[in-house]
Amino acid sequence: MLSIKTMELEDQDLIEQTAFLEQQIFPDAWSYHEIRSTVKQTHTFCAAAKEGDTLLGYYLCYYVLDECEIARIAVTEQARGRGVGQRLLEHMESVCGEKQLTKLLLDVRKSNKPAISFYTKNGFTVDGERKFYYGGDNPEDAVLMSKTL
Ligand SMILES: CC(C)(COP(=O)(O)OP(=O)(O)OC[C@H]1O[C@@H](n2cnc3c(N)ncnc32)[C@H](O)[C@@H]1OP(=O)(O)O)[C@@H](O)C(=O)NCCC(=O)NCCS
Repeated sequence: MLSIKTMELEDQDLIEQTAFLEQQIFPDAWSYHEIRSTVKQTHTFCAAAKEGDTLLGYYLCYYVLDECEIARIAVTEQARGRGVGQRLLEHMESVCGEKQLTKLLLDVRKSNKPAISFYTKNGFTVDGERKFYYGGDNPEDAVLMSKTL
């Protein structure tokens, strides 16, 4: 059964597993130390989706005033299309409610059609684009999206 668990600093194994998934999923993967330091910060909250002991996905968020930025949301390739991302987003929105955060913000690669569809289905709208926002070997424009909660 799928469960969503808030990630805490003492969840060393979970943070390690998250860093492992990052490497598999993102070209600009965050390291174990970057993830750990995000979990440790005060104006952040993070959660993991697990089935038994297996990590299927996670999100990392940080917030300023009443706005929350989705830094990461990801599901393992094998577990996609099964509603795991949906459950993670619902959990995130519920934490936003508890913290009285009223807006979710994110940026996403323009070519990332599955993620853009995922956000659109969940009520996010496009605010604009940033040219060559993502650098490195694969420079690409960002689409900026948001949702008022
Ligand atoms: C975006 C992501 C988190 C979605 O997670 P997921 O668990 O596969 O999504 P869900 O199964 O919960 O899908 C929820 C809805 O999103 C939309 N969606 C999800 N994947 C989609 C796809 N490949 N194509 C079109 N729509 C899609 C659908 O509307 C779906 O609802 P439906 O099943 O009723 O049609 C996942 O694709 C992922 O991890 N991608 C790689 C990492 C990434 O790009 N993260 C975002 C960076 S900004």
